[in-house]
Amino acid sequence: MPTYGRLDVAFTKGAGVWLFDDNGDKYLDALSGIAVCNLGHSHPNITSAICQQAGVLLHTSNIYQVPLQIELADKLAELSGMSQTFFCNSGAEANEAAIKIARKYGHNKGIDKPVIIVMDGSFHGRTMATLTATGNPKVHAGFEPLVPGFVRIPYNDIDALRMAISHWPEAVAVMFEPIQGEGGIRIPAADYLSEVRQLCTQHKILMMLDEVQTGVGRTGAFFAYQHADDVLPDVLMLAKGLGNGMPVGACLISGAAIGVLEPGNHGSTFGGNPLACRVAMTVLKTIESSDLLAHVSLVSAQIVSGFEDALSGLDNIEIRCKGYMIGIELPEDCTQLVEKALDRNLLLNVTDGNVIRLLPPLVMTAHEAEIMVKIVSELVIDFMKAQTIGSVA
Ligand SMILES: Cc1ncc(COP(=O)(O)O)c(C=O)c1O
Repeated sequence: MPTYGRLDVAFTKGAGVWLFDDNGDKYLDALSGIAVCNLGHSHPNITSAICQQAGVLLHTSNIYQVPLQIELADKLAELSGMSQTFFCNSGAEANEAAIKIARKYGHNKGIDKPVIIVMDGSFHGRTMATLTATGNPKVHAGFEPLVPGFVRIPYNDIDALRMAISHWPEAVAVMFEPIQGEGGIRIPAADYLSEVRQLCTQHKILMMLDEVQTGVGRTGAFFAYQHADDVLPDVLMLAKGLGNGMPVGACLISGAAIGVLEPGNHGSTFGGNPLACRVAMTVLKTIESSDLLAHVSLVSAQIVSGFEDALSGLDNIEIRCKGYMIGIELPEDCTQLVEKALDRNLLLNVTDGNVIRLLPPLVMTAHEAEIMVKIVSELVIDFMKAQTIGSVA
């Protein structure tokens, strides 16, 4: 079905941060398949985990014990501080699980029509409940009636959350991204997460963090909430980078969310199968053992100063960055830059109309990052010049 506006290029192989098209031309991948291939393409650990596991066992069923699932859940608990995991196959599914947990948590407290607080500018997926939770009218259009039980507030506005909680006694959860990805790499105030945590604890509301895009090392910590003091969500949703390209999603719980779902309440045929778990486990161990998080933090600082230097002469540009999650906001719609970058053999994305989004593989070296910064800066400078000439003419 024509559900995607596709670019006119097809890749046939990849190695590290490089992709090769069917003519053999080489491209620098500064998008990682939208925050998925965090270890780059054809990482030897991932290739060998897939090959080995495929030769032993791909799938049984969740009606049996799945030891690799337990190992992965234990590893996730160790890295995140969360307690238990439900495995699924995508970000939208991880969020669906979270939404069901929130509703059941409400029903268990005697709330017949539980309300979940969500944010403007958010993105949570394309299923009916997750598109309803998404704060972008374009995602809703044509799919009404939306799912009831959601109220929306501005992002990064703790007073708005406080007011919503006092206005909606049926509020059972607040669901949001620690940094908005699709919404334009929006980074909230440094104390926002801690303040949300405090309000949630005070009012016995679940704090549900969508780390589908920010999770698994993207921001220079395993999980973005780990940059904040004393924050552990009640529900944590992961996908994308967890599988490095193998479809896997996860919904983790702690605290008040424990014990809400009982046998028979939720399920997935493929979720947590041995192949997906083996790959996700390999992703986590590879990140852990290779000092990748420190590398991301270090090179990220170089990327920011590279952009600041190169773009210092331009007005009305904002550079936002946490780890390898980089947004450059331009004063006008710049979607044309996606193709212009492709012409220069660089893969990037524009989100929210005027924000260049860079999500390079975490393995991108300082030298490769320099190439990325140089090409993107030249594209931005040319774009801004053309705008100025256009407006003067
Ligand atoms: C924050 C966030 N949540 C959820 C999703 C949906 O994930 P999926 O496409 O795997 O369903 C995305 C996808 O971009 C996302 O960025």
